[in-house]
Amino acid sequence: MTAPLIDPFERAIRYLRVSVTDRCDFRCVYCMSENMTFLPKKDLLTLEELDRLCSTFIGLGVEKLRITGGEPLVRRDIMTFFNAMGRHLDSGALRELTLTTNGSQLSRFAKDLYAAGVRRVNVSLDTLDETKFAEVTRWGRLPQVMKGLDAAQEAGLRVKLNAVALKGFNEGELFDLQAFCAGRDMDLTFIEVMPMGDIGNEDRLDQYWSLKDLRARLEERFTVTDMAERSGGPARYVRLEQTGQKIGFITPLSHNFCESCNRVRITCTGEIYTCLGQEGHSDLRAPLRSSPDDAVLEDAIRKAITLKPKGHDFDYSRQSVDGQVSRHMSHTGG
Ligand code: GTP
Ligand code: 5AD
Ligand code: SF4
Repeated sequence: MTAPLIDPFERAIRYLRVSVTDRCDFRCVYCMSENMTFLPKKDLLTLEELDRLCSTFIGLGVEKLRITGGEPLVRRDIMTFFNAMGRHLDSGALRELTLTTNGSQLSRFAKDLYAAGVRRVNVSLDTLDETKFAEVTRWGRLPQVMKGLDAAQEAGLRVKLNAVALKGFNEGELFDLQAFCAGRDMDLTFIEVMPMGDIGNEDRLDQYWSLKDLRARLEERFTVTDMAERSGGPARYVRLEQTGQKIGFITPLSHNFCESCNRVRITCTGEIYTCLGQEGHSDLRAPLRSSPDDAVLEDAIRKAITLKPKGHDFDYSRQSVDGQVSRHMSHTGG
């Protein structure tokens, strides 16, 4: 057995998030600007290179693999890659193969994803109101995503909705989202909006809705019990006793979770980001392409892990946005 990946703060890296494209068929206001310049296709890792990279990480102890984007399901031939990764589930090396998606293509891909070994999907959905949905995603249409959710559940996939908590936007829909998920047996996670990338005139401070407030609102109607259960991601979960449903909170601003961080991210061009909230990254594409010998790549991965920072510095507490990072969320896939 090769030694597992341990960072300078003694955290074991077991979770790899891989962005397979920077493109997306939506333009969410907190994620992208309307006019994005995307990478030329030649800069992207090929599906074979992505396979080699992920397989090397799995050999180094990664047990959870999440495919992200942009929108991962708009990458051409992406099922070839999912099918190939299925072999690591069969061997037992990988415990979970999953993805985060905007849901737009799920009606096409849900069955195939299940067949590849995916059992759970996280779908980003901030509102159940068609007009608001079109507003926040700019290019998205809600009925298409609803069809995707139907298809996912029909295919046997467990669905978790991710909603970014946006002040003045989906505040009034808290209980609608909660009831929708209870009625359809979906999990629900709320995320605090992070200062990532230039998003034009939208103002982060105005957008920020603390999940401490959101939880207090839930407590006005429900008995909210903390759960010990963890999914291997950053969310902390509670149960609403009256409905039995599970609600997650991802609180990079109001409560930092970096001390238990177990993950790193790869972009579609083969850069490794060891923290979502920091600029630091290393290149893995050159070592990947320089030699067919995986030892060279392994070496580069270990070096990158030694640079993993202690945590992010996002902070809105002084009524200003601190710790902003310049790249968009779609660059590293959230
Ligand atoms: P589960 O397996 O369901 O727990 O998923 P997950 O929460 O690990 O993945 P998902 O893609 O649903 O992540 C939700 C969001 O949480 C991401 O899009 C990010 O916005 C945020 N997030 C995930 N990891 C980190 C992290 O390390 N730091 C920060 N600041 N935010 C993170
Ligand atoms: N802050 C918090 N979450 C964000 N996402 C995109 N941009 C931001 C941001 N600035 C979320 C999406 C999706 C996930 C990949 O990241 O809504 O759920
Ligand atoms: Fe696309 Fe997701 Fe960004 Fe929205 S949040 S623009 S769906 S990558």
